[in-house]
Amino acid sequence: MDKTYGVALIGCGHMGEAHISNIYYKTNVRIEYVCDLDRKKAELFQKKYGAHLTSSNPMECIEDKAVDIVIIATYPSTHLELLSLCLKNHKHVLCEKPIAGSRVEGKEFLRQVKEHPECKVLIGHILRHNATYQKVAQMIQNGAVGKPIAFRMVQNHHTMDWEKYKRMLGEASPLLDCGVHYVDIIKWFTGSDVKKIAASGARTEPDLPEGSFNYGMMMIELKDGSAGYYEAGWSNTLSADNLKEFSGPRGSIRIIYRKDRQTHQEEGDLIEYYKYPEKVYEMINVQCQRKPTGLQFDHLVKMIETGCDAVPTIDEVYESFEVCLRAQEQVAGDSM
Ligand SMILES: NC(=O)c1ccc[n+]([C@@H]2O[C@H](COP(=O)([O-])OP(=O)(O)OC[C@H]3O[C@@H](n4cnc5c(N)ncnc54)[C@H](O)[C@@H]3O)[C@@H](O)[C@H]2O)c1
Repeated sequence: MDKTYGVALIGCGHMGEAHISNIYYKTNVRIEYVCDLDRKKAELFQKKYGAHLTSSNPMECIEDKAVDIVIIATYPSTHLELLSLCLKNHKHVLCEKPIAGSRVEGKEFLRQVKEHPECKVLIGHILRHNATYQKVAQMIQNGAVGKPIAFRMVQNHHTMDWEKYKRMLGEASPLLDCGVHYVDIIKWFTGSDVKKIAASGARTEPDLPEGSFNYGMMMIELKDGSAGYYEAGWSNTLSADNLKEFSGPRGSIRIIYRKDRQTHQEEGDLIEYYKYPEKVYEMINVQCQRKPTGLQFDHLVKMIETGCDAVPTIDEVYESFEVCLRAQEQVAGDSM
C-alpha cells in the first residue's frame, strides 16, 4: 500500500476549509488534527471532514508523532512561530501566504526554511497550481502577445464580514496580503524581475487599525520594459472587481473567471486571446478550480517523495514578499 501522511490543519477559517475540503478524501491522507484557537470551529471541521482529534493548541498537534504534514492557515503574524515549531519537530509544512507581516519575520522565515532542507516547505501561492494561470504563463512565455507587456491586475473585495477584514488589516495591507500572488504572477509570466515600484493608498473606512490602509495601488516596472499596475482594496463600499489583462505588441490576453462569464460557465474559466495584426479573437476554455489546494498539496507530497523544488521556490516567494512590503512601506511612509 502507498504511504499515507498524517495531516494537522492549524486555522479552521476560510483558507483552512479551502485546504481540508480538497484533501480529506485523498487515499494518502489521514487528517490527524484540526486546530483553531476557537475550539468550536475545530469541532465543526472534525465533524465535516472526519478528523481524528481537535485542539485549540497548535503545539499539541505539531508535537504529535502521527503528524507528518502541518497546514498553516492562520494570520501572517503567526506563521514564523508555527513554522519554527514545525521545523523543530521535523514536520513538512504547507503555509499560507504572505510568509509574515514584517521584513524581520519574513527574512527569518526564509533563513529557517533554507536551514532545514530535510523539511519540505511549500507556500500557498495557489495561482501557480491553477490550470488557467499555467496556460496563460505558457502562452506568454511562447510569445503569444510579444514583449514588452502592459499588465492590469485588479482584485477588490466588497467585504461582507468587516470585522474579519479589520483584523487582517491590522496584520497586512491588501497590497501585501493579496499582492504577493500577483507580483509573483507577473515575474513568472515574463521571466523578468521588478526594476521599480511606486505605490499609493487610501484609508476609506473610518475604523481602520492604526497605521493601516484598506485600498492600495502599485505601479510596477520590470527589467524587460514591461509595466503595469496592481490594485487591491477591502472595504464595505468598493465593488468586487477582478481584472487580469496582459497586452503586448502581438496581442492581448484577458483571464475571465468562470463566475464572471456572461455565458457558458459550465466550460470553466475563459481565456480571451486577441491576436494582432490578424485582429482575430480566440476563446480558450479551461476547466479549473479557483483554488486548487488539492493539487498544491500533491506538489508538497511530490517534494517529499522526489526532492523536487517548491513551486514557487522559497526565494521566489521572498522576492514577491519584499516587493509588496516595499509598496506597503511607501504608502505608510507617505501618510506619516
Ligand atoms: N491563498 C489564497 O488564495 C488566500 C486567500 C485568502 C486568505 N489567504 C491567507 O490565509 C491566511 C488565513 O486567512 P483566512 O481568510 O483563512 O482567515 P480566517 O479568519 O477565515 O481564518 C483564520 C483562522 O485561524 C485561526 N487562528 C488564528 N491564529 C491561530 C493560532 N495561533 N492557532 C490556531 N488557530 C488560529 C482563527 O481563529 C481563524 O479561525 C492568511 O494568511 C491569508 O492571507 C490566502
